[in-house]
Amino acid sequence: MKALQIAEGVYDVGATDWNVRDFHGYSTDNGSTYNAFLIIDEKITLIDTVKEEFTEQMMAKIASVIDPKKIDYIISNHTEMDHSGALPRVVHRIGKDTPVYCSKMGLKNLSSHFGDKLNLRAVADGEELSLGKRTLQFFETRMIHWPDSMFSYIKEDKILFSSDAFGQHYAGPERFDDQIGEAIMPHAKKYFANILWLFAPQIKGLLTKLTGLNLPIELICPDHGILWRDNPAKIVETYTEWCELQPQSNKALVIYDTMWHSTEAMAEEIVAGLAAEGMDAKPMHLRSCHRSDVVTEAFDAKAIVVGSPTLNNGLFPTVADFLTYLKGLKPKNKLAASFGSYGWSGEAPKLVGEELKTMGLEMVEDPLRQQYVPDQEGLEGCFEFGRRIAQAIK
Ligand code: FEO
Repeated sequence: MKALQIAEGVYDVGATDWNVRDFHGYSTDNGSTYNAFLIIDEKITLIDTVKEEFTEQMMAKIASVIDPKKIDYIISNHTEMDHSGALPRVVHRIGKDTPVYCSKMGLKNLSSHFGDKLNLRAVADGEELSLGKRTLQFFETRMIHWPDSMFSYIKEDKILFSSDAFGQHYAGPERFDDQIGEAIMPHAKKYFANILWLFAPQIKGLLTKLTGLNLPIELICPDHGILWRDNPAKIVETYTEWCELQPQSNKALVIYDTMWHSTEAMAEEIVAGLAAEGMDAKPMHLRSCHRSDVVTEAFDAKAIVVGSPTLNNGLFPTVADFLTYLKGLKPKNKLAASFGSYGWSGEAPKLVGEELKTMGLEMVEDPLRQQYVPDQEGLEGCFEFGRRIAQAIK
C-alpha cells in the first residue's frame, strides 16, 4: 500500500472500501473511499482517519512516506466513525499525547465516542495552526453535516479539506476529477441528495461565507471519493445550484410498490398520463430501485406521486420505509399526489397523502383508490389522474 502524492509534501493516505454496498441505508454500488491526508512539514500532520477496520491500510500508506511515530498533529474534521473510527488505534500506535485538533463540538462528540483516549484540542472558527512552512486554517461548518463538522485549509498550497462536503461514495482507479470527468457527477448528486439535502440552507450560508472570504482554492479534498483539482470551482458552483432546491419543471416520478400488480398497473397509467402532457415521467418500483436511488431522482423532480397497496389496514412496508427516509430529508418545492389499489379497507392512499402533506408538499389531487384490479375505466381514470397532475405542474 503506497501513499499517493497529491501536492508537494501532501499525500493521500486514505483507504478504499471496494466492497461496501450499504452505507447506513445508502446503496453504495461502487464502494467508497475514506480519505485521509498526510502533510509533511516541520510538524507532520494527519488530516482525518478511516473506518476502524481500515486502520492498517492507512498506516501502511503513511509508513510508505514516513515513520507514523513522527506524526505531530492529527486534525479531526468530523466525528462520524468512517473518519474517526481509527483514531484511538492510530493515537495508541504513534503516541498517546499526540494532539487531536477539532472543532468545539468535535471535542464534545469525540469525547462521547472515545472517552479520554484522545488528547483533544478545540479550535475556533478561523483559527490558524502553523505547521512550519505551511499554515492550516480551520472553518466551522456546523451541520454540514454533523454539529462537529469543520473544514481545514492550507493557505500556502490553497488546498481545502472539506470533510463530507463535495464527497461521493465512489471507489475506482481514478483519484482526481480530470481522470473520471462528468461520470463522477451522478455520484456527487446522489451523495448530496441522500446526505446533505436537508442541510441545503446551511450549505448555502457556508458557500456564501467562503465566497466572501475569497479563499483561492486549487484543490478540494473531500473525505469520500475523488479529489477536485481540475476545476474545483465547478463542484462549488454545482452545490450552489443544488442548494437552491429548484426542481426540473417537467420531471415527475411515480414511486410505488405493488402486491398483485394492480398498483403497478395504476402507476404505469399515471406515468403515461404525465408523459402525454409532455412530462419527463417514469415509474420507480420500491423493490426494484433502492430508496437512495429513488431519493436521488426525487431530489430534482417537480412532482412525486406515491402509490401503495393497502396491507393489513396500513401502508406497504417498502412505501413506509421510503416515506420515512424522504421525510427526514425535508423535501421542498414539490407537488405530490397519492394512489393505490386495495381489497376491502383501502387506507393506504390516504395515509400516503397525509405523510406527503406532513412533509410540506403541495397535494394537487385527492388520493386515487382502485379496488382489486383496475378495469379499462379504472385505467383511464389513472391516465387522467396523471394528466391532471401534469397540468398542475404546468
Ligand atoms: Fe463520511 Fe459524515 O461521515
